[in-house]
Amino acid sequence: MLSFILLALLSSHLHRATAVTIDMEGLPDTGLDTSSWTAGVLPPLEDIWDLNDMQIAAKNVLSGKFYASYRTGALNEFTYQANLGIYSKVKINGFGFRDVSNLRTSTTILGHNLSWPFFIAPAAEAGHANESAEASLASAAGNAGILYVPSISSTLSIEEIAKAGVKGQVMFHQEYIWANTSRVIDELDRIKASGYKAIFLTVDNTGITGIRTRSLRFTVGSEPGHAANFDLKSLAAFRNLTTLPIVPKGIKTWQDALECLHLGFPAVYISNHGGRVLDGVPTAVEILMDIRKHAPEVFAGMEVYADGGVRRGTDALILLALGARAVGLGRSPMFANIWGEAGVSRMIDLFSQEMKTSMQLMGVSDVRQLNTSYVNTNGIVV
Ligand SMILES: Cc1cc2nc3c(=O)[nH]c(=O)nc-3n(C[C@H](O)[C@H](O)[C@H](O)COP(=O)(O)O)c2cc1C
Ligand SMILES: *[C@@H]1O[C@H](CO)[C@@H](O)[C@H](O)[C@H]1NC(C)=O
Ligand SMILES: *[C@@H]1O[C@H](CO)[C@@H](O)[C@H](O)[C@H]1NC(C)=O
Ligand SMILES: *[C@@H]1O[C@H](CO)[C@@H](O)[C@H](O)[C@H]1NC(C)=O
Ligand SMILES: *[C@@H]1O[C@H](CO)[C@@H](O)[C@H](O)[C@H]1NC(C)=O
Ligand SMILES: *[C@@H]1O[C@H](CO)[C@@H](O)[C@H](O)[C@H]1NC(C)=O
Repeated sequence: MLSFILLALLSSHLHRATAVTIDMEGLPDTGLDTSSWTAGVLPPLEDIWDLNDMQIAAKNVLSGKFYASYRTGALNEFTYQANLGIYSKVKINGFGFRDVSNLRTSTTILGHNLSWPFFIAPAAEAGHANESAEASLASAAGNAGILYVPSISSTLSIEEIAKAGVKGQVMFHQEYIWANTSRVIDELDRIKASGYKAIFLTVDNTGITGIRTRSLRFTVGSEPGHAANFDLKSLAAFRNLTTLPIVPKGIKTWQDALECLHLGFPAVYISNHGGRVLDGVPTAVEILMDIRKHAPEVFAGMEVYADGGVRRGTDALILLALGARAVGLGRSPMFANIWGEAGVSRMIDLFSQEMKTSMQLMGVSDVRQLNTSYVNTNGIVV
């Protein structure tokens, strides 16, 4: 009898020692139960039903330092939180009496055929999640027919990522404006030679990057080597360095979007860098609304991409309805990569399924039909 009680006490103690309680950071509660997970151990992929679950799984398995490096925003994280919250302020109009038996989800991005209007955005150092690093992002994107745009600050090289793709896969590549011009020239040449079809030129942290406190607590930030003197003249000089199409990434005002149109860029990428650079700036929803109000010619004159806080198929549909042609996912693929390619593929499947189902419920049979009639933004003032 005594030994039975001891055994029961012991096992309940052991149970308490391994069960994990994870701070869910105020993410929507969809009933994720982590009581069978072990801290520091990769949870089964079968437990994962949406992109928020993937973040919590990454939080369970990554070191505090690496989780913070992916998760962090700048300063008070007002913009990081606003990115997540803004979609709940937009109402979606779902129309009945429409035939949605044949769905078209494919679109073109800079003339390239892709199976979905969402893509994997550039994010540095995928190797902190899984040793395959960017290779799993490239192959998962390639197998799903979606666009992947690796970061110039990747774990793997420009050439290694290109090789990890599937046959015929379209990839673009991100670049920074380094103070060292030889470096820029060298990288642009290697990007072109490796078969990437366009450049996302990140213009929102030229010379000065955000103060990411959550991450600084683990590692003091290093000097990124970006050029602080980057202006319109340097932009013109940069365009001379490659024949690939250039898309300015990190446009946060309608004025800059209009400037890019006047400068003849084929596209702009509306982004606040996932709230990691200038805290307090508006979300993609608000910036798109501002462009529509002050410079609607931008939408007619060039392609517009957008990102920030997209975690649900409905979030992407909102940005598409407000005029984006394609929508980027930043953190989610990085978190999904804790399982390597299987995780990234599951993330793409779950997200596609949400988009597909929501399109049907909205009465949209072709993603290219999405326009402002599908959203009510009266709850947002710009
Ligand atoms: C860990 C991490 C690293 C990033 N690295 C880059 C980068 O190297 N270049 C860049 O242009 N944007 C970078 N971004 C910004 C993303 O491209 C994207 O704009 C942002 O993550 C979208 O917001 P989301 O994470 O809420 O989806 C990074 C974002 C994260 C989370
Ligand atoms: C893209 O798809 C269209 C229509 O299906 C086709 O005509 C075109 O050749 C394709 N382009 C490429 C580059 O595959
Ligand atoms: C500038 O970039 C070139 C090419 O990548 C490199 O060889 C050189 O060492 C860099 N110079 C400095 C000062 O970092
Ligand atoms: C770009 O290249 C053209 C042709 O070589 C040259 O005339 C022009 O001055 C260059 N512009 C800049 C800003 O370097
Ligand atoms: C890392 O990714 C590789 C390639 O997709 C995969 O085989 C491996 O299982 C992943 N590691 C873990 C711990 O899941
Ligand atoms: C939006 O698209 C619908 C369906 O394709 C169309 O009937 C409507 O006129 C469009 N509305 C606007 C505001 O462009």
